Amino acid sequence: MCGIVGFTGRENALPILIKGLYSLEYRGYDSAGVAAFTKDGLRVVKARGRIANLEEKIKEEGGDMYCTCGIGHTRWATHGEPSDRNSHPHLGGKGKVAVVHNGIIENYKELRERLEAHGYEFKSETDTETVAHLVDYLHTGKQEDLAKTVLQAVQRLRGSYALGVVSMDNTQEIVAARRGNPLVIGIGEGENMIASDITAIINRTKRYIILDDNEVAIVRPDSVVVMNEFGDTVEKEIMTVTWDMSAAEKGGYQHFMLKEIMEQPKAVADTVKPRIKNDAVVFEDNGLTDERLREIEHIHIIGCGSALHAGMVGKRVIEAMCRIRCTAEVASEFRYENPIIGKKDMCIVISQSGETADTLAAMRLAKQAGAFTIAIVNVVSSTIAREADGVLYTWAGPEISVATTKAYSAQLSALYLISVKIARVRGLISIGDERALCAELQRLPECIEQTLKCQSDMQRIATLYANRSSVFFLGRGLDYAAALEASLKLKEISYIHSEAYAAGELKHGTISLIEEGTLVVALATQPALFEKTVSNIREVVARGASVVLVTTDDFTGDESVCQHIVRLPKCLYEFSASLSIIPMQLLAYYIAVERNCDVDKPRNLAKSVTVE
Ligand code: F6R
Repeated sequence: MCGIVGFTGRENALPILIKGLYSLEYRGYDSAGVAAFTKDGLRVVKARGRIANLEEKIKEEGGDMYCTCGIGHTRWATHGEPSDRNSHPHLGGKGKVAVVHNGIIENYKELRERLEAHGYEFKSETDTETVAHLVDYLHTGKQEDLAKTVLQAVQRLRGSYALGVVSMDNTQEIVAARRGNPLVIGIGEGENMIASDITAIINRTKRYIILDDNEVAIVRPDSVVVMNEFGDTVEKEIMTVTWDMSAAEKGGYQHFMLKEIMEQPKAVADTVKPRIKNDAVVFEDNGLTDERLREIEHIHIIGCGSALHAGMVGKRVIEAMCRIRCTAEVASEFRYENPIIGKKDMCIVISQSGETADTLAAMRLAKQAGAFTIAIVNVVSSTIAREADGVLYTWAGPEISVATTKAYSAQLSALYLISVKIARVRGLISIGDERALCAELQRLPECIEQTLKCQSDMQRIATLYANRSSVFFLGRGLDYAAALEASLKLKEISYIHSEAYAAGELKHGTISLIEEGTLVVALATQPALFEKTVSNIREVVARGASVVLVTTDDFTGDESVCQHIVRLPKCLYEFSASLSIIPMQLLAYYIAVERNCDVDKPRNLAKSVTVE
């Protein structure tokens, strides 16, 4: 959801900015731009489309943009269509100030009217250009340094922002500000950077500072000073990235998505193994004490998209194992429906990025209402991780592909851990049961590894059905929750219309869409429901559907009605969603490849959704 980057140091900044933008491209790819202090002054180049277009344009315009300080932006459009003129950076006033922005300025219309009354001419439809002119307006003719001006400017803004601002007054300085959108400052030797996330700085340094809401930073080659909203200097902790660049590179795979699908055994192992000690689930320092877990009256699981789908699996596992009422709720709905939240409720907040605006807002609401909030988050020190009462990190490593795979799998395993822990603490399972469940959890990476062997089968099936215009995914219970994720994967990367249905529900209307040749993928991993699902398969087969059945090794139903059958290795039925999703991810992947889609960067999407 827009990526910003900035560099100030002694080397040529342009290649560093471009590289940074490439690693942030997953946050939005409608357009890109850079502003740099060159020998000709403050120069801005921007282009609609991918970063490659920007590089092309820089070449066309003479190529010489040598500079040692500059800022860059990759955009996911909110205000104004994707176009050259709506691309960032935006210049303020007569071109002395340039601004890059991630977020939404809610009061930009009134600010724009006031600035226009002062003679400012707007060149774009964006909310960001308002900030550029506002900074110029407050700065012009004053002795105040840029940071103080930015501090005054942000006090007039409503909404959310991560900002990078430069001015001709000091061509080695970047001023950064944040409220509601992520911003890190990379600390180097004789050089420093700003960026929306660590992937853009890790090439240069592993040391970074996280800017907090309402803070403003002055970033120069040899110093970084952070101020709070009152202009007082604040001491910031310098953190160190624990993974290296290779984790964020393709490593020989054609796409990040395929690499990340293959990394799932490791992602699950890294999430599960440190939390199992002496055959028991052990949580350290995340507030999930036995006492608290014993008292819970209701669990709300909150997330968006795939994170919500993981929550829907979690809901079923928790209710089955722990007999606590558990609801999986869409974050953007939860926050506006005046939810009933009790003081003994627990809220499990799931987010890969840890920055999703709706999820964050829903969590704040639950926290305010007195619920204990525990975040299942992948990005260390992200906003949700920092604001939750406790965190259970998914150690999936950086996930670059916009469509999530390994983070989803790691989220499932974190939910299983919580479930086993609660069941044990509340006396629903014995020590022996817990030992057996922990053994199953530890075996899960191996089962996923086994399941990945269906890769070539799924590739073959994908070739057969890649030309379909509509695909249905059916399942009951846990399989329905997994079907929702399977359907989302397919539609988001292949652009094929797809729906997930509770298998028994299809005949109440939607079955009218099934016709000769429609592809139906049926998930059936729960023996108690095998026969029921087979009946539903027969209903679609009778109407001409071609069926792919994903089931367990011990499936006993009649498989003769299905065109293809994918058998999963044996695992505990409660954990089967971790296996059934693997062929579904591969199917979506290979269909998207077959249709020549941009797998890692599907149209209209962004990895980190920081607007509501
Ligand atoms: C789909 C996908 C999205 C995210 C959703 C929430 O593949 O990745 O549906 O799951 O946008 O994002 P996070 O997990 O970062 O809160």
